[in-house]
Amino acid sequence: MKQNISVKLGNTLLNSPLIIGANDSILDFKTFNLIAENSKLLGAFVTKSFTLDARQGNKNPIVSCVDNNLMVSSGMRNPGLKQMLTEISNYHKQHSTPQLIPSIAINPDSAHKDPIAELTFLATQLYENGVNIIELNLSCPNLNTSTIVADKQGMVYRIINQIKNEFSKKNYSCTLIAKLAGDDNALLNSAKQAEDSEIDAITILPLLRATSFYTGLIKQHQPMAIGDPLLGNIHGTIYGSGFGPITRQYLLNLKAYIKTPIIASGGCLGGFNSTIIEKTDGLVQTMFAGAIATEVVTPFYPFNQEKLQEIDEILNQYNQFVTNNSTLF
Ligand SMILES: Cc1cc2nc3c(=O)[nH]c(=O)nc-3n(C[C@H](O)[C@H](O)[C@H](O)COP(=O)(O)O)c2cc1C
Repeated sequence: MKQNISVKLGNTLLNSPLIIGANDSILDFKTFNLIAENSKLLGAFVTKSFTLDARQGNKNPIVSCVDNNLMVSSGMRNPGLKQMLTEISNYHKQHSTPQLIPSIAINPDSAHKDPIAELTFLATQLYENGVNIIELNLSCPNLNTSTIVADKQGMVYRIINQIKNEFSKKNYSCTLIAKLAGDDNALLNSAKQAEDSEIDAITILPLLRATSFYTGLIKQHQPMAIGDPLLGNIHGTIYGSGFGPITRQYLLNLKAYIKTPIIASGGCLGGFNSTIIEKTDGLVQTMFAGAIATEVVTPFYPFNQEKLQEIDEILNQYNQFVTNNSTLF
């Protein structure tokens, strides 16, 4: 008999521990719909992180391919809350699964100078528009470092605490996830604050900054001159292949101190050329390391029907593995 591979995050039940993480493809109903129609077993997908006001973000290119990986620096390019609420509400009218998890972030250029109030406002607006699970992107790496929220003393605790207080005053019940990026020490520090604030789950993303250049020997999907940096912002972060073992090590390190469920993100299913069996292997390994779920992007990039249909194959193979090795789970 097949196992039940569903996962409970706070008050929210996911079909499986596989979540598509925030990325620049997940911005509108068209992509939300494509994901829902092609992956019945997927646990959830996270929208592109968005802010109160729209942001232009960094210069193009904001995404480039290097080996089996993606290099990214979008500077949180997004259309803002109002537009995202329309896209999310259209999704909810048609689908109840996979769960859609809006990812919200503070806009460092916003006229709103109280970042905690701004994020609380965003979370409240989402809840009042039918959302009951939210990811707080508290450490976007591709902004000026001085604006990484999680790096500021006590900020992670204060933000989550304020949102939880506001929700509790209004009797709102919403699953909250804090996404934290950084090196080992930064992650431990911010994860402890998130745990103290009684967050439902933490997503961790080890941070590897990266730079690469166009040689003309390998094609990129946009025109470039030889010698150009592969990203408009020159440097960005790298995701995908080879990153999984690092993420799993960070997860083990954190689990020694943190009891809050942890979603592991960063190379957990390999890169965009990884085979289905390599992706399944990555998922099993990440669960062995103690994750409650994993958030992945690169292995399903670009988000077309062919790539998305792999998700159910991977999850069927994962279910078979869990069934055959039930004593290990
Ligand atoms: C093109 C791209 C855009 C991303 N944008 C966001 C974002 O807006 N917010 C966020 O929290 N993470 C963002 N990420 C990080 C992913 O959600 C995920 O944590 C990361 O890609 C690691 O997983 P992977 O190695 O499976 O790709 C982005 C990643 C990519 C590749």
